Order: sequence, then C-alpha cells, then structure tokens
Amino acid sequence: MFDSLSEVEPLDLNFEQYKTESRSVDSFDCGNVELNDFLCTEEVGKYEKELLGRTWLVFYKGVLVAYYTISNGSLRIEYLKCHRGFSNAGEYHIDTIPSLIVGRLAVDKKWQYKGIGRTIMAKIAAQAYESSETAGLRLIVVQAKNDAINFYEKLGFIPVFETSKEKKRIKNRHTRTMFFDLLALDDI
Ligand SMILES: CC(C)(COP(=O)(O)OP(=O)(O)OC[C@H]1O[C@@H](n2cnc3c(N)ncnc32)[C@H](O)[C@@H]1OP(=O)(O)O)[C@@H](O)C(=O)NCCC(=O)NCCS
Repeated sequence: MFDSLSEVEPLDLNFEQYKTESRSVDSFDCGNVELNDFLCTEEVGKYEKELLGRTWLVFYKGVLVAYYTISNGSLRIEYLKCHRGFSNAGEYHIDTIPSLIVGRLAVDKKWQYKGIGRTIMAKIAAQAYESSETAGLRLIVVQAKNDAINFYEKLGFIPVFETSKEKKRIKNRHTRTMFFDLLALDDI
C-alpha cells in the first residue's frame, strides 16, 4: 500500500501550505502543462481565495519537488455498488460518501520515481484518517490521469463502478475516478 523503499527519505520532505508570498514556483515542471500552469499562474491563488482547494508545496532539501491540492467532497454511492465495503450503504439513507478529493498531485520530472508521490499520498491518507475522528470521512478520491492509474493502483486505489452506458460515453476519456477506503487503515 503506502509503505515501500524510497530513494528520497520521507522524513526529509517538508510540507508548506501555499501562500501568495510562497517561494518561487516558476521552475516547477512535472511534464503536464495543465498541472504546471495551475501552480505557476494566478490559478492556484484563486483556488485559495475562493476556498476551493488548499495547495501544499513539498520541498526536499530546500528544492520544490512536488505539490498537491486537496478539498472536501463526496462520491455518490452508485459508484461504489460493486464494492463489498459499501454493500449495505443503502441502510444509512445517504446518497453520497464523504471524501477527501485530491484534485491535483504533481512531482517534478527530475524527482519522479523516487517515492515522493507515495510519501505524499501516505501523508494525505494519515491526515484524512485522523480528521475522520472529528468529521465523517471515509474515502480519498482522485481523478487519475490515464498515465497515473497504475501509480494509484499500487497504493490501493480502486476504479469506481461504471455502467456500460457510462463506459461507452467516456471511451476516449483521459482520466478515471478512483478511490481509497480509509477503513483499510484501521488495521495498521
Ligand atoms: C504520477 C506521479 C504523481 C507519481 O509520483 P512519483 O513520485 O513519481 O511516484 P513514486 O516514486 O512514489 O512511485 C510509487 C510507485 O508507483 C510507480 N509509479 C510511479 N509513477 C507511475 C506511473 N506514471 N505509472 C505507473 N507506475 C508508476 C513507481 O514505479 C512505484 O512503484 P514501486 O513501489 O513498485 O517501485 C508523478 O509521476 C507525476 O507527477 N506525474 C505527472 C503528473 C501526473 O500524472 N499526476 C497525477 C495526476 S492524477
């Protein structure tokens, strides 16, 4: 799941919440223009101002190596209907499951495949689990880009259920909704 050998010592990573006066982020390049632009234009600041997402910068020995943006959200239960853990969700008279949404996750190209993405997701999961003690929170949800689906699968994320109609409609899709059930951390 979240533990594995990594080239970058997890304890050497520093997490700083994005602030308009944050250190320069212009040189950040994860290989995806959209993700780069979010951080390097005024978009990130707008998200902060409108309370739509909180962005965290991740530094390794003073160098910006990654960032991610999280917000609160939910996932409709019909997307979970084939998953054992939610077979009795109907009993609770709820339409959605409270979720933490990882809207963006990006590791700089020079730092990919060194365990940074895994360490970040482990931290997000641990914090989500902790906050579930004060307000209900069951899932971490990501909109995984096609290229990143295997990365999330390695961490225990599962693609949501889709009807055949949905599958057809989104044949040429570039992303897939995936979730991680925080109850899996109960035994750890
Ligand atoms: C996808 C991304 C976040 C992964 O971060 P990372 O720091 O490179 O990943 P890690 O080194 O922690 O990898 C953890 C495991 O996933 C694997 N992995 C990492 N990226 C992968 C990918 N794109 N496809 C398949 N497996 C991948 C690693 O090999 C490693 O496997 P192992 O434990 O068996 O050795 C990063 O590559 C990235 O920012 N990519 C560009 C932007 C992007 O696609 N973001 C995701 C948006 S949904």
